[in-house]
Amino acid sequence: KTGPTALPLPLVVGHRGNSGSAPENTAAAFTEARAAGADMVETDVRLTADGELFLFHDNTGLRTTNVAEVYPLRAKDPITSFTAGELRRLDAGGHVGGQYAGEGVTFLADLPAAVGYDLGVNLEVKEPASSPGVEQAIARMLAEHDDWLRLLETERVTVSSFDPAAVRKAADLGLPAWLLVGTDPDAVLLDGLDPRTEGVVADHTSLSDDGAAAVRAAGLGLWVYTVNSPAATAAVLALGVDAVITDFPANLRAALGGTRG
Ligand code: G3P
Ligand code: MG
Repeated sequence: KTGPTALPLPLVVGHRGNSGSAPENTAAAFTEARAAGADMVETDVRLTADGELFLFHDNTGLRTTNVAEVYPLRAKDPITSFTAGELRRLDAGGHVGGQYAGEGVTFLADLPAAVGYDLGVNLEVKEPASSPGVEQAIARMLAEHDDWLRLLETERVTVSSFDPAAVRKAADLGLPAWLLVGTDPDAVLLDGLDPRTEGVVADHTSLSDDGAAAVRAAGLGLWVYTVNSPAATAAVLALGVDAVITDFPANLRAALGGTRG
């Protein structure tokens, strides 16, 4: 597997949207990723205290929201300890600049609209221990909503995690499951991989030629994160990866010399 088929490789994947300039994991960032020529967006998925799927990287709201103003006594609490209604009161855009003020925390249900209904989506299950049941909730969301079903049926959705147990659960639920690795994905690591895993998403700074070859020899797809500099981009393109996750999808699209396929 390479990921979504019927698209020219390598895929351009906007990391947390167009996070090089827009506030990460917000609707604005996803909309901008599309305009920048991305094929897909990557986003981090968590579960609220009352069971709604939302898109958020950190385990607190301190860096990317005004949680300290809105909930001063709870600002350092896990972001997953808030209900969906509480998260809807936060501003997740103002930290980047005044033009993004009012941009809220984004919920998974709203993502297809933000990416224009046809862009691909890589759902990273973030810290699943703090979001119990997140894999089942994702599977339900994809199966029960037409927008998501269409993306799934056209192979425009992948589910990834650094947590092998979450990857296994995603595969159990019939979802396209990818393993994130922060080390070189050498043959030893791949030996223990659940056979239903479609591919590996590797940290480009750790990926060796041998590691890339081992992924290919195992018949797996190979994606890399988070590739931003021209030199790093040239290096991963030379390795022949299937997708590149970047904060600057417009730069990668330009380096590939074209418009979205
Ligand atoms: O999914 C690739 C990348 O997003 C993994 O690292 O910390 O940015 O979620 P992180
Ligand atoms: Mg991520």
